[in-house]
Amino acid sequence: MKRDLISILDVKDEIDILLDRAIELKAKQKAGNGEKPLKEKVLGMIFEKPSLRTRVSFELGIYKLGGTGLYLSPNEIQVGKRESVYDVAKVISRYVDGIMYRAFDYRIMQQLAEHADVPVINGLDDLEHPCQILADFQTIKEQKGSLKGLKLVYLGDGNNVCNSLLLGSAAVGMHMVAACPVGYEPNQEVLAKAKALGVERGCTIEHSADPIYAVKDADVIYTDTWVSMGDEAEKEQRNKVFPPFQVNAELVALAKSDYIFLHCLPAHRNEEVTDEIIDSPNSRVFDEAENRMWAEMAVMDLLMK
Ligand code: CP
Ligand code: NVA
Repeated sequence: MKRDLISILDVKDEIDILLDRAIELKAKQKAGNGEKPLKEKVLGMIFEKPSLRTRVSFELGIYKLGGTGLYLSPNEIQVGKRESVYDVAKVISRYVDGIMYRAFDYRIMQQLAEHADVPVINGLDDLEHPCQILADFQTIKEQKGSLKGLKLVYLGDGNNVCNSLLLGSAAVGMHMVAACPVGYEPNQEVLAKAKALGVERGCTIEHSADPIYAVKDADVIYTDTWVSMGDEAEKEQRNKVFPPFQVNAELVALAKSDYIFLHCLPAHRNEEVTDEIIDSPNSRVFDEAENRMWAEMAVMDLLMK
C-alpha cells in the first residue's frame, strides 16, 4: 500500500523517527558517506506556485539519495484544468516513483493523492505545509535537544504554515499558541483537531488574538508572511491589520532569553519581522531553510523506498 504525506497528521506517530533520520542523513552526507537508497527513482515535482526552497530542496534531496527530480512548471500539467485530476494522477504514476505537488487548492491535492498509484507529498497547499514543519522541528530538535514540553508561539496569519504547526506541535507534545488577529484565525477544524490531540499528548494548544499574552516565556517564536500566495488581492487590508503581530525587539523581550526565531521564508523584512530580529543571534532561519532538504530526504526515504 502506498502512503502519502498530505497532512502532517499522516506521519503523526513517526515525526521523531523522521527527525532522527533527517539528522542522520545530514551528518552522513556532510561526512562524505551518504547513502543512496533511492537509486534510479524519479520524483515528479508539480508546481502551481513559485518556489525557491521547495523546488531546490526536493530536487537536490532526491539527487543525493541516488534519484532524479523532474520539475513541472505551473504552465505544464495544470492539474484538473488541461485534463482531469484522475487522468493526471494515473498517467504520471506510470512514469515516476513519487509526486511532490504544490497546489492552490487542498481538495485537488487530496484528489491527486487518492487517484495516484505512487506516494504524493504535499509541497504546500492552502491548508497545510507539512514538509516545512518537519524542517522546523528538525531545527528545534538540533537547537534544544527535544520538542516535548517546549512552548512555540506563532504570530501572524492563521495560514497553511500555522495549521501544520498546530497539528505537528500537538503530535509531538509541544505547547503552542497561535496569535492571530480577529478574522485571520487558523482553520477551525484544524484547531479543534490539534487541541484534542494535544490533550492526548500532554500539551496545550491554543489560539489568542493577543500577541503580548502569547509570546510570554516562548522557547520558539515563529512568523510567516501576512500575504500568502493566492491572497495578493487582500494585501492592503492585511497590512493594516497585522502590524501589532510584527516580531520585533519589544515583543521578543517577553520570550525566554534563549528563544529561537524561525520563519519558513520568504520573509518580508520589516513587515512580519524586523531586520534586527531575523538577523539576530537567536535567528535560525537559514538552518531551517537548509533542513528542508534533510527532512524531505527522510520523507522520501520513508515513502519511496
Ligand atoms: N518555505 C517555502 O516553502 O519556500 P518556497 O516557497 O520558496 O518553496
Ligand atoms: N504561507 C506562505 C508560505 C510560503 C512558503 C504561502 O502560502 O504563501
